[in-house]
Amino acid sequence: MGHAPLGVSTVTATHPSMGDIGPITPHTARATAHPNIALVKYWGKRNADLVLPATGSLSLTLDIYPTDTVVSPDPSLTSDIFTLNGEPVPGTPTQRVSAFLDLVRKRSVEQGSGQEKPELPHMYARVNSINSVPTGAGLASSASGFAALATAASKAYGLPGDPRSLSRLARRGSGSATRSILGNLVIWHPGDGDDEHADLTSYAESVPGPDLAMVICVVSGAQKAVSSRVAMADTIRTSPFFGGWVTSTQRDLVYMQQALAAGDYTRVGEITESNALRMHAAINGNRPPVRYLAPTSVAIFDAIAQLRNDGLEVYGTADAGPNVVALCQAKDLDATHAALHERFPDLELIPARAGSGAHLTPVGETSENEQNSAHEGQPAQAHDAANRQE
Ligand code: DP6
Repeated sequence: MGHAPLGVSTVTATHPSMGDIGPITPHTARATAHPNIALVKYWGKRNADLVLPATGSLSLTLDIYPTDTVVSPDPSLTSDIFTLNGEPVPGTPTQRVSAFLDLVRKRSVEQGSGQEKPELPHMYARVNSINSVPTGAGLASSASGFAALATAASKAYGLPGDPRSLSRLARRGSGSATRSILGNLVIWHPGDGDDEHADLTSYAESVPGPDLAMVICVVSGAQKAVSSRVAMADTIRTSPFFGGWVTSTQRDLVYMQQALAAGDYTRVGEITESNALRMHAAINGNRPPVRYLAPTSVAIFDAIAQLRNDGLEVYGTADAGPNVVALCQAKDLDATHAALHERFPDLELIPARAGSGAHLTPVGETSENEQNSAHEGQPAQAHDAANRQE
């Protein structure tokens, strides 16, 4: 247990799902964020240090599986401590969290946010994160994880909490986390150039569009053989298709924004499916080769095409793994879920609607995860924008 900063009383809290989160101080902050699935994918960094993407991308933030993160700077710590779902996670996850907090502390010094509390930017932190994605669902958690961490850590260390600043910061943890700072449809701008200016101009922004929903088809929850971070770098280095991927994705992003603005769902769906398969084609060109889609994934893409022929407008997409995500209009979510269940009765299918962006939550409040486990089966309600940290 840490010592309280002078004149500050601390309370040790035990959260129902987080276990002992250590002493709560005036600097403790807590935030929640949701995962997102891209309609126009991010695949490739032009600057790995600053996490500047090769192209812009666009996604739907979902209302399922929030990550709930508490950050407590503590003067008694000699290193950052990261626990996930109540367990310490030594190695790469802790290193990534710690490197991220180093950036937060550096900015805190630069921005003079520690002036009133000069010791604050030099404190290590306890980070306790609860990720509600069920084990084996095979859904990436880095987007919701770093979006929640950026939001809580910014508050804890006195950095600005507006969406532009938060999304720029979250980007440094994981590219796709940039987009989870905001709810519903979100564009991540690639930024101009390759330097400090690019860093300032590569952020997330909300975009208007039709009411969309998704059904996640869980083909496998197993850890992927090649992480997306490694495969992405290999595509740039070894795939002859990377150049084509970049130019066609730049076009897809323009057409996607036009289609969303026009409320042209058919066009949105067509671009989504084609963009995903082009990403996988570029990845298939890696040496050594990487193939994320499994035979069942391909069967789901075929079934989705069949559903369209039968009059239900569903389109497929897939991230760096075998799970396929069916995109539909919100009004067709139940029908899409039912139609996929009929064709794949043994697959776990997870329906999702548009969800909220990352937001601060009171440190002592019952989290969305805890509320969900109390009302099992009910989707989390989207928080409105007013709840977000501005
Ligand atoms: C296929 O955001 O996980 O999901 O920036 O290296 O952490 P890093 O990569 P990450 O990559 C996501 C790739 C994707 C497509 C997407 O979400 O746009």
